[in-house]
Amino acid sequence: MIYSKRLQTQVPVNIESKSNFIQGYGNFTSYTVKDNKITIGKVDIKDTLNGIEVAFIENKQPKLYSGFGKLADQIEVEHCVKRGLKNFDILSEASLNSHALHFLRGKRFYSKEAEENIKKVIAETPKGKPFNTRFLGSIKMYMPQELIQKYIKIIKKNPLILK
Ligand SMILES: CC(C)(COP(=O)(O)OP(=O)(O)OC[C@H]1O[C@@H](n2cnc3c(N)ncnc32)[C@H](O)[C@@H]1OP(=O)(O)O)[C@@H](O)C(=O)NCCC(=O)NCCS
Repeated sequence: MIYSKRLQTQVPVNIESKSNFIQGYGNFTSYTVKDNKITIGKVDIKDTLNGIEVAFIENKQPKLYSGFGKLADQIEVEHCVKRGLKNFDILSEASLNSHALHFLRGKRFYSKEAEENIKKVIAETPKGKPFNTRFLGSIKMYMPQELIQKYIKIIKKNPLILK
């Protein structure tokens, strides 16, 4: 489900996936999230030995749908469960103006300095104004185990791809 701004309620989504083995890179899966025929966004994932690296996520329709980040987080966890992994790592790189959004959803930085910078941006950005973090460049993040466990509980009741 995702929040439709037009209907002002959660609506179901359908998800298509395409996996490719790329020589010298590894297994790559692209998930396309749709509301019927409308493409809402995509989640691109690279498999690692013990989990995944998130290559890119994007809400292509931010004026029509919100909460794509949470949906992407759930797809990332489900992808690992689907691979049969029990303990796994979900790594990503925050870039563009997404750092604060990933942090607020619960992803964390390895760098204390990055965390301090993001907290400062969040504190100093007036309510309703966009977080501007592009100047920070790409910074490594991970999904903490507690957040992974939270999604594992959600997936048991409401899976997106493990149906
Ligand atoms: C990162 C991203 C996928 C998050 O998706 P999302 O649908 O905004 O999902 P979230 O639930 O995290 O967003 C919550 C709110 O933050 C808002 N938001 C988006 N960008 C924002 C910004 N720079 N500053 C403040 N708020 C922002 C969203 O509009 C949404 O608000 P709304 O409910 O009033 O519409 C999305 O912002 C995006 O596609 N950004 C462009 C591409 C990108 O940066 N990808 C990630 C690179 S690592």
